[in-house]
Amino acid sequence: MTLYAKLMPAPLRRRLQPHVQRALEVSGLIAVLHRRQERRLAQAPAAPFDDGLPMPPPELLVLVGASSDGRWFSEGGQKHAAMFEDLAAAHGVDVGAGKDVWDLGSGCGRIARRLAPKVIAGGGGFTGSDINRKLVDWTSANLPGRYLLNGLRTPTPLEPKSKDVVYAYSVLTHLREKAVRAWLEEVHRVLRPGGLALLTFHDEGYARAWGPKGVAERLEREPFIVLNDAMEGSNYLSSWTTREQFTAMASPLFEVLEIVAGRADNPTQAIAVLRARGMI
Ligand SMILES: C[S@@+](CC[C@H](N)C(=O)[O-])C[C@H]1O[C@@H](n2cnc3c(N)ncnc32)[C@H](O)[C@@H]1O
Repeated sequence: MTLYAKLMPAPLRRRLQPHVQRALEVSGLIAVLHRRQERRLAQAPAAPFDDGLPMPPPELLVLVGASSDGRWFSEGGQKHAAMFEDLAAAHGVDVGAGKDVWDLGSGCGRIARRLAPKVIAGGGGFTGSDINRKLVDWTSANLPGRYLLNGLRTPTPLEPKSKDVVYAYSVLTHLREKAVRAWLEEVHRVLRPGGLALLTFHDEGYARAWGPKGVAERLEREPFIVLNDAMEGSNYLSSWTTREQFTAMASPLFEVLEIVAGRADNPTQAIAVLRARGMI
């Protein structure tokens, strides 16, 4: 028990908690605590897991999933790679047929380790990018494809109209609204006209089924919500938006082909399937 917990009666602690948390966020101290928590998680015992592909070390696994569980990383990555591949195919794009594919926020390659070999074997090009240098270094050294560092803010060094498909799993969910809008513009800039974007976000369906208390109700009044508003781009911050608002943000640049609601193989994220408009 911390000194804080010992000195404060529980009801007072609960009342003060949001204020303490906000003070930690505003002062920047939250980053120290968050990183310490990540180090703790990385040290938690996890059963060794080998799926025959390069496995990142626990400290990198924790950065993308708050867990050092290799089985979760491997099986979840396989599921989500298949999900993106199937969704692209349903919209007429075979990612294994000479396509240029960009994994935005590629982390330590949870999805890339499955998709990059397929894309490259099909004669296409695979690029991953992330804001975290450790993750980019690991993927560059261990996975097929090209991996580069990009900033939290746009643009990336990628050439305009150079990709056929962009996907981002659980990346926009860690950005504030202004950044989400900017990244939609960047994805559009980098996609060829007609190119496909598959972008996940936390929607009202997830908020209702599994979200933190009060978020679903707030989404009925506010179309875009940020929780834990600090350390943008890290797993500490989460953002939530309605399908209607996401559609409104994307529509000027993309034809919104469908918004796939969270489902059994992917309960926490909705997926926007977008086709890049030509001349804007
Ligand atoms: C929850 S992890 C998901 C990683 C990977 N997409 C996956 O599904 O395993 C979020 C990732 O997005 C990265 N990220 C956050 N903001 C980003 C941005 N503006 N550009 C690129 N990567 C970003 C983080 O560094 C982190 O690797």
